[in-house]
Amino acid sequence: MPDDRLDPATLADDLVNRVHALASLDALREAEASLVGRRSPFAELQRTLGALDEEERRTLGASLQEARRRVEGELEARRGLLAAEERRRALEADRLDLGDVVDAAVRLPVAVGHGGLIAATQRELEDVFVAMGFTVEEGPEVESDWYNFEALNMPPAHPARGLWDTFYVDLGDPETVVLRTHTSPTQIHLMERATATDGLPIHSVMPGRCYRRDTPDARHLVAFHQIEGLVVAEGITFADLAGTIESFTTAYFGPSITSRLRPGFFPFTEPSAEFEVTCTVCGGGGCRTCSMTGWVELGGCGMVDPAVLTAVGIDPERYHGFAFGFGIDRCAMMRYEIADLRALTENDVRFVEQFS
Ligand code: PHE
Repeated sequence: MPDDRLDPATLADDLVNRVHALASLDALREAEASLVGRRSPFAELQRTLGALDEEERRTLGASLQEARRRVEGELEARRGLLAAEERRRALEADRLDLGDVVDAAVRLPVAVGHGGLIAATQRELEDVFVAMGFTVEEGPEVESDWYNFEALNMPPAHPARGLWDTFYVDLGDPETVVLRTHTSPTQIHLMERATATDGLPIHSVMPGRCYRRDTPDARHLVAFHQIEGLVVAEGITFADLAGTIESFTTAYFGPSITSRLRPGFFPFTEPSAEFEVTCTVCGGGGCRTCSMTGWVELGGCGMVDPAVLTAVGIDPERYHGFAFGFGIDRCAMMRYEIADLRALTENDVRFVEQFS
């Protein structure tokens, strides 16, 4: 087999060089048939085998097969290499530059949360009262009729119940379970506990959320916050009540703001008063916020009615008490001159962020 052109090993060297020169998978697929397939020199050579004698045919056949295997092996290796390279190039094109990502992240403002204005106001009010010697207590938001009305000197069908538009909870007998309309029921819990544990005197404030079936407007929310105060001890007088309210007012709002009491009515206090503070918007001169009076109503107060003390087993001959209750949201509204209370519940970050 003297013809060099047809020497399978030399042929394979040539084809292997061509395989190595293939630059892409596409080029490889296109060249495949002409390298090892039906259009390859191997196929051509194969066809000449028939004309040879048996000895030559076997020798040439064997070296032909070996040469073809070599080229096929190189071709597969090249295919793997090109596939890996193309995959790497695709990933490279897809990759985000981590440096850019980090730069962008660093430029983002980092939002750190903070407590809401009502929670902050409640804490400040608690602090003022704690400094005056009060303890802070809490009560449930869902109450029985007894705590919200009856023990507070409002028997069933008492007309004064109409002062509070009440949400009833669908539980037990109709209209026996309510969302508390004020924090005053917590007074009852506290006094009951005190009689059961010999826990008198009481000097406590009771903050918390209350609910009324009101139409929300600039000064009213359906869910709002009150803080209740209760003192029960021997020898307590109305002067203690007035002095406590005045001390609180200057401690919380500052020395330029004072308080005044006006006659009022609550079934659970006798006498009762409404307490008002100097309008913080106009400083007392008269403006739209205070309807030109110079005063803004903050809450109610009075001497604990003997009927209430009796209802919880406290001897009204020996003990006297005073109570007050006012809106925490109202305090925040006045202190920060918020025109519309509904802003407190809307979660508009432009509003919320002002109080961080
Ligand atoms: N609970 C009354 C209200 O919500 C306020 C109040 C509390 C009045 C304590 C007197 C004594 O309107």
